Amino acid sequence: MNPLHLRLERPEDLGGIRKVHELAFGRREEADLVDRMRENGGRMVSVVAELKGRLVGHVLFSEVQIHPQDKAEWTAWGLAPMAVVPDHSRQGIGSALARRGLQELQDQPHALVFVLGDPSYYRRFGFLSAHQLGYGDEYEAPKGAFQVFELRPKALKELPAGLVKFRPEFADAVS
Ligand SMILES: CC(C)(COP(=O)(O)OP(=O)(O)OC[C@H]1O[C@@H](n2cnc3c(N)ncnc32)[C@H](O)[C@@H]1OP(=O)(O)O)[C@@H](O)C(=O)NCCC(=O)NCCS
Repeated sequence: MNPLHLRLERPEDLGGIRKVHELAFGRREEADLVDRMRENGGRMVSVVAELKGRLVGHVLFSEVQIHPQDKAEWTAWGLAPMAVVPDHSRQGIGSALARRGLQELQDQPHALVFVLGDPSYYRRFGFLSAHQLGYGDEYEAPKGAFQVFELRPKALKELPAGLVKFRPEFADAVS
């Protein structure tokens, strides 16, 4: 039996989630960001990977706002941050987490998921270049790094593209 357990965050996970981010990123900014967003509230989906009683991975999805030029603003998901502890990296845990998170979002509102990250990593889950599809980001992301995943068929065709704004906590975290 695969001992890796993927599940939604529970109240007792908060310390373990902090630790995952601190170890994976080698600093506290991402752990602080997750805590701040949780404190501030809002719709989120938070998935952990547990291995033999220890949290070894975490991914957070929070809402982003899309601002098309001539149409009303609308809401989608943003994937960030995601982390796997270094002593368990490259074992497929990040991939399992991402796939489980995207699966959880199927039962939630919103049709698209945006991410800023390496396309060679996120492509395997079905992410496409958001820039090429007409979406803009606020962070001057390098070509290909700003990506989008379609949760509902035809969403990319039907929804009006625009500037994608992540929650303000992200800007505070990178400034
Ligand atoms: C990115 C991260 C979550 C991947 O987790 P993981 O459990 O090691 O990933 P997996 O084992 O599922 O996938 C490993 C594959 O991803 C690739 N990979 C891992 N990290 C990568 C990265 N930052 N960029 C591009 N590719 C990466 C590996 O080369 C490997 O490729 P292969 O399958 O072709 O051999 C993990 O390395 C991590 O926590 N990194 C530090 C934090 C971070 O950068 N998070 C992402 C941005 S929010």
